[in-house]
Amino acid sequence: MLSFFLVFLFLRMQNNVLILDFGSQYTQLIARRVRELNIYCEIYPYHKIPEDLSGFKAVILSGSPFSVRAEDAPHPDLSQIRGKLPVLAVCYGAQYLAHFFGGKVEPSDTREYGRANLSVIKDAEPLFENIKENSQVWMSHSDSIIDLPENAVRLASTSDVLNAAYRIDGEDTFAIQFHPEVYHSTDGKQLLENFLVKIAGTQQSWTPGAFVDLTVSELKEKIGDDKVVLGLSGGVDSTVAAVLLHKAIGKNLYCIFVNNGLLRKNEFESVLDQYKHMGLNVKGVDASARFLDALKGLSDPEEKRKAIGNTFIEVFDDEAHEIKDVVYLAQGTIYPDVIESVSVNGPSVTIKSHHNVGGLPDFMKLKVVEPLRMLFKDEVRRVGKELGIDKELLGRHPFPGPGLAIRILGDITAEKVRILQEVDHVFIQGLRDWMLYDKVWQAGAILLPIQSVGVMGDERTYEQVVALRAVESTDGMTADWVNLPYEFLQKTSNTIINRVKGVNRVVYDISSKPPATIEWE
Ligand code: XMP
Repeated sequence: MLSFFLVFLFLRMQNNVLILDFGSQYTQLIARRVRELNIYCEIYPYHKIPEDLSGFKAVILSGSPFSVRAEDAPHPDLSQIRGKLPVLAVCYGAQYLAHFFGGKVEPSDTREYGRANLSVIKDAEPLFENIKENSQVWMSHSDSIIDLPENAVRLASTSDVLNAAYRIDGEDTFAIQFHPEVYHSTDGKQLLENFLVKIAGTQQSWTPGAFVDLTVSELKEKIGDDKVVLGLSGGVDSTVAAVLLHKAIGKNLYCIFVNNGLLRKNEFESVLDQYKHMGLNVKGVDASARFLDALKGLSDPEEKRKAIGNTFIEVFDDEAHEIKDVVYLAQGTIYPDVIESVSVNGPSVTIKSHHNVGGLPDFMKLKVVEPLRMLFKDEVRRVGKELGIDKELLGRHPFPGPGLAIRILGDITAEKVRILQEVDHVFIQGLRDWMLYDKVWQAGAILLPIQSVGVMGDERTYEQVVALRAVESTDGMTADWVNLPYEFLQKTSNTIINRVKGVNRVVYDISSKPPATIEWE
């Protein structure tokens, strides 16, 4: 077993790509594109260049919002890297490489943002293999490289930018002014593949199957016969983490699935059932009353989140104590959370505090195991598929940890939860029936703290208003409302008002994020 594990570890280390982050909004995107090529990579902040580069095959220098001439711009010592490994410098990286090694970077006469086309590509350059002249690239810069660094040769230009790509002669050191990682650079993926595979000789061996094999053996090695506790939420990340751990340590994985009373209608029972069918050692804990009690009288969104977060920790801690000699707490942390906490810019400003299931309370004194911490969301889904997890479970919309509590504006009562569960159920089931569920990134209903006048039969009514929200997004950072068919909205509104007692008006939210957010609280 040990040798199997070492071979895998060796394979990963030998094919690792180092992405040095200068703070660009696109750095994560570079990592995703590299992973899409089935090549493993890790992002390091520019001020933490690893001393030992022996585990890496290549380096990519990212872009940055700074100008290289600004005093507070990232200015690491590039001689630590250049000549030791193949380098691809992107945008700011290309400017800084020039600046650092004797070239000249100055503000452009014309700032270049958006589409451009490559021209005058130098013949027989491996970086541009299979990339034709005129290829569309995406630019985003206000400085230009006026003079190339010593020994550099120009590889390509655009109509506005003379030095759009260059190479240090006789070295595998390349620089490009455009962004190959964005979709609008039509041959960007080809260029990255040329650099990583053809030039740096990296193997495309980073597949979900390889990840599962490697991680399962790593987990076996690390955990041995110890016991692990994990909080399941019904979401993709915790489910995939649980199945991976289960594969590694079997019954020594103790899963806890807490019903906070704020889940979707029938969700607790049906998801618990699914988990049991998957063979997981899972305990369902119905703590609805405890959560409702903790929420009594609270209407401030952050106070509600805190009450739910604290109650979750209490319930989870009580349950974890029932398991004798537990050593590890497993969490479904994924790479974007890790990158955010170590990024050049530091953790981003908190707009809403997210109390995700499984936060480690200090007093539990458990060791942490996070098998997904190097994966992006789409990779988690691919790994889940590889593990044979049900398509329906993997395709589920994201659902916030505090659940319906942040979709009931104002204070929470059992009756309000019941109304919202019914409304949400009609909406979500309708999306499924109309084959719209998979076209939507996230959907839900919101119970507004107002009543409006209506008429039913001959009676005047004064009942609740609900809002429906359905958005498209890739990561929840930005989102747009979905253009759902009028017939669907019409049918859904009718069904809700006819079926759900207490509701006489339905509205549809047509706000994008930003400036609105996905949730209303
Ligand atoms: P917003 O409302 O910030 O939501 O646009 C972005 C994504 O985060 C989810 N969200 C939460 N998830 N705890 C969570 O676990 C929370 O308190 C929370 N608030 C928002 C939201 O559902 C969306 O997917």
